[in-house]
Amino acid sequence: MEKKKLIYLDRNENHYGPAPKCFKVLSKPNFNKLSSYSRDFSRGVKSRLSERLAKEFDIDESRVLLGYGGEDILKQVVHCHLSKGDKILIPAYSWWYYKAIAEEVEGIKVEYPLIKGDTTFYYDVDEMIRLVNTEKPKMVFVASPNNPTGNAIDLSELQRFLDSCTDSVVVVDEAYTVFANTDKTYVKALVGKYSNLLIIRTFSKYFALAGIRIGFALMGQNLARFSKFSARYLGYNRLSERIALAALDSPEYYEEMRLKMLADIDMFFNEFNKLQGFTAYKSLANFILVEIPSQIKVPLKNHLLSKGLVVKFMDEDNLQSHIRISIGTPEENQMLMEAVKEFVSN
Ligand SMILES: Cc1ncc(COP(=O)(O)O)c(C=O)c1O
Repeated sequence: MEKKKLIYLDRNENHYGPAPKCFKVLSKPNFNKLSSYSRDFSRGVKSRLSERLAKEFDIDESRVLLGYGGEDILKQVVHCHLSKGDKILIPAYSWWYYKAIAEEVEGIKVEYPLIKGDTTFYYDVDEMIRLVNTEKPKMVFVASPNNPTGNAIDLSELQRFLDSCTDSVVVVDEAYTVFANTDKTYVKALVGKYSNLLIIRTFSKYFALAGIRIGFALMGQNLARFSKFSARYLGYNRLSERIALAALDSPEYYEEMRLKMLADIDMFFNEFNKLQGFTAYKSLANFILVEIPSQIKVPLKNHLLSKGLVVKFMDEDNLQSHIRISIGTPEENQMLMEAVKEFVSN
């Protein structure tokens, strides 16, 4: 029997794929250059990519940091700044990896709640400030938008929070930011004002380049120790960097994709909320969280699988009857919505 090809809408990958210019880089690799280190360090910068990112964000290159994905930078900042017994504040519903890296260094995890509204989750900044004051964490993670809830923190609320975090390193994970927020200007203002702030971004999500493993961060002036910790003197991955630069050179491609994805997020939000017993939560990322009637969890999963569709069935405290759907191509999204409707109507 022929094996059915599965469509993975459970991984928050971007099925639109990278811009055509990225493929051009791969079709014309300069193999001689692959034999040598880039050694951009000798020019006083980390790499061509960090230089370009500095221009994009109108920021000094020394404030840009590169890593092998946001994952790598998150791990590095925890290993650099957090030691056994230090406290770290983590959103209660969030990417499991945050807790995993805190455990690697035997940090003490303090969870702060995310509030569930009717159609959106939100950060309770008053409670976060209270916890900073009482727990005195060495580090705080904020994800904006947060995975899996899809909500972001308002800029004014983030600033109010940062004002209270003078003694903590604050890491704002913006892996999913660009889908709903293309503004870059606030980044410079924030890292200019808050010296313990690290804002992490990635080429994996919006740019559909998860496989090249490039993430970057913009940091406040007090994080010089982290900058040294993460420096790679011989250079980064030449090929990945060229692909990332080609992606930055393709704004029209990504803007067209972005608008289609936003339309499909709206489609999922509206269609799921029409179904009895389902609640879709507003999302500012490339995925959407939907609460489903708990009794249909297993049969719905099986029904979707029979159609070759995989979504993430959550299995965490207070998120037991929820699915997280990564936005696929318009065709995949339609297939999924129709499969759910077919299941509900039977
Ligand atoms: C919230 C969040 N941050 C960061 C990442 C890391 O992405 P990458 O390491 O590919 O940059 C992910 C990946 O799923 C994520 O969900």
